[in-house]
Amino acid sequence: MLEKLGRNLPCWCGSGKKYKSCHMAFDEKISHYKDMGHTVPTHKMIKTPQQIEKIKESCKINVAVLDAVAEKICEGMPTSEIDRIVYDTTTKMGGIPAPLNYEGYPYSVCTSVNEQVCHGFPSDKVILKSGDIVNVDCSSILDGYFSDSSRMFCIGDVSAEKRKLVQVTKECVELGLEAVQPWGFLGDVGQAVNDHATANGYAVVRDIGGHGCGLEFHEDPFVSYVTHKGQEMLLVPGMIFTIEPMVNMGSAAHVTNRTNGWEVSTRDGLPSAQWEIMVLVTEDGHEVLSW
Ligand code: MF3
Ligand code: CO
Repeated sequence: MLEKLGRNLPCWCGSGKKYKSCHMAFDEKISHYKDMGHTVPTHKMIKTPQQIEKIKESCKINVAVLDAVAEKICEGMPTSEIDRIVYDTTTKMGGIPAPLNYEGYPYSVCTSVNEQVCHGFPSDKVILKSGDIVNVDCSSILDGYFSDSSRMFCIGDVSAEKRKLVQVTKECVELGLEAVQPWGFLGDVGQAVNDHATANGYAVVRDIGGHGCGLEFHEDPFVSYVTHKGQEMLLVPGMIFTIEPMVNMGSAAHVTNRTNGWEVSTRDGLPSAQWEIMVLVTEDGHEVLSW
């Protein structure tokens, strides 16, 4: 729900201008979509220019951390070493790894190998071997602002079948990104992702997905990949969210580790891949903030 604001009061965006000469027409346009039955964003989901600057600084750390991982990750490395690289790089740059102690999550990063879908625990006992595919999911906090993105890495000699899964999943994110535009809909993104995955014979995980991000780690809206073009939340300039489909080679079904309550794996044991980007909706399209 958009809060009503007096015409002569300062605009909610922090510009210092009067509402009527700043975001009033913008809010009226959003209300119009709402009247037509669409779900629309709240003001909290629409970041101000000052907030966007701060979030971009956080994203710079996140990208640098992933770059540091990319430089060092190799066959024979235990995933606990990735956790160390992430913690050290983030804190050296003045940030805090967002996963650490998040709802009890015990590490600085998620490392999900092969059939692991997401939230894989870094471990001394998980040694990366030739043929593995691994998702490294980094999230950072800088000055209270959040960033979140992940990449896949192919270790040594990976089968053509698994390399294709990794590549197609990346293409899914790229196609989802192309669908991000102001006054479009979140379902445009979901459908673009899903169409490409299913056209390649894969299945997209249904109940775990992307999210608004920036002022908090996980904000509304939920970004699903089983949605349809022209449906779901209206996209407006200033919204920031992640696109992070988990694409399974076999069925979309997954199971959660009963011992730790976090690690998610495919039920059929077949590989799963995920890439995650954080994107800003702009006046004329979109801008990738973290990848
Ligand atoms: N980075 C993941 C995401 O994309 C979240 C990990 S949750 C954690 O939303 F608790 F494991 F950190
Ligand atoms: Co995320």
